[in-house]
Amino acid sequence: MPSLYEEYRSMAEAEIQKAFPGHSGMPQRRLVEAMRYSLLAGGKRIRPVLVLAFCDATGGCPEKALPAAVAVEMLHTYSLIHDDLPCMDNDDLRRGKPTNHVVYGEFTAILAGDALQAEAFGTILRSSLSAEVRAECAEALANAAGIDGICGGQQLDMEGNGKTLNEQQLIELQSRKTGSLLAAACLMGAIVGGASNKQKEAASAFGSALGAAFQIRDDMLDELSTTGELGKPVGSDRRGEKTTFMSLYGRDECLRRIAALTEYAKKTVSGIFPSPQFLMDFADELSIRRS
Ligand code: IPE
Ligand code: IPE
Ligand code: MG
Ligand code: MG
Ligand code: MG
Repeated sequence: MPSLYEEYRSMAEAEIQKAFPGHSGMPQRRLVEAMRYSLLAGGKRIRPVLVLAFCDATGGCPEKALPAAVAVEMLHTYSLIHDDLPCMDNDDLRRGKPTNHVVYGEFTAILAGDALQAEAFGTILRSSLSAEVRAECAEALANAAGIDGICGGQQLDMEGNGKTLNEQQLIELQSRKTGSLLAAACLMGAIVGGASNKQKEAASAFGSALGAAFQIRDDMLDELSTTGELGKPVGSDRRGEKTTFMSLYGRDECLRRIAALTEYAKKTVSGIFPSPQFLMDFADELSIRRS
């Protein structure tokens, strides 16, 4: 029997596969091809799974949350395309395939990222969800993407290259670049599920804590994993002379912090959602992920 993660993942995957049909006759088809190249390249689909799982845990029908699930993956994919650019992390492998700019060239990769970000909002706003739910989801996604979200975090990340950041600076950076989108995924699922304010707060808190643990694990894997297992180059952070949780704390302290953040995340949802078990199990699974 497939695990619940597998069920949510395949539901989201089927919907993601339908993105941008009928582009082959368009004059700008190369742009759409580039967008689909990265969007359909695989990936763990953790953010869409969180959207569907939070909708379910709140008592809503997960199918209803599919537009928000697709949107968050589009936004995430844009952030990865730009993160890999030569002027940023300068990486040539992503999701086991050559990065977007390696295949399509830099200007197309930049535009593919830009368009994926716009289409993420379009996907929510064009959906058949109520006007109120669409507005609330779009606001959550905008907060995660902008100054206090991915862009702000990536700015701090890039400015930090070649410098030693302290713990507070690193936490501020990561909560924006990674925690914000995971929190928005959880929040959007809760919104579509009809959550109370208390449940929405819990969903965001869960996503932020999970995001913090997720980035620490990402930093660990960048040093300790293999390119084959990760599908992206190991040693990218060291090459970029970045301060990471790994360079600051070392392996054992990273493991301790991941465990503490995971326990905290689990506490935020227990007793608040009618069925939080999957969320708690998923937090445990992510804490020991190998890719
Ligand atoms: C990678 O995210 C970027 C970070 C925020 C650390 P994921 O590890 O979720 O990447 P995919 O989507 O599975 O490729
Ligand atoms: C990037 O963090 C997070 C984003 C907002 C894209 P990383 O630079 O560590 O992500 P990876 O390791 O390249 O996936
Ligand atoms: Mg980066
Ligand atoms: Mg990177
Ligand atoms: Mg990384």
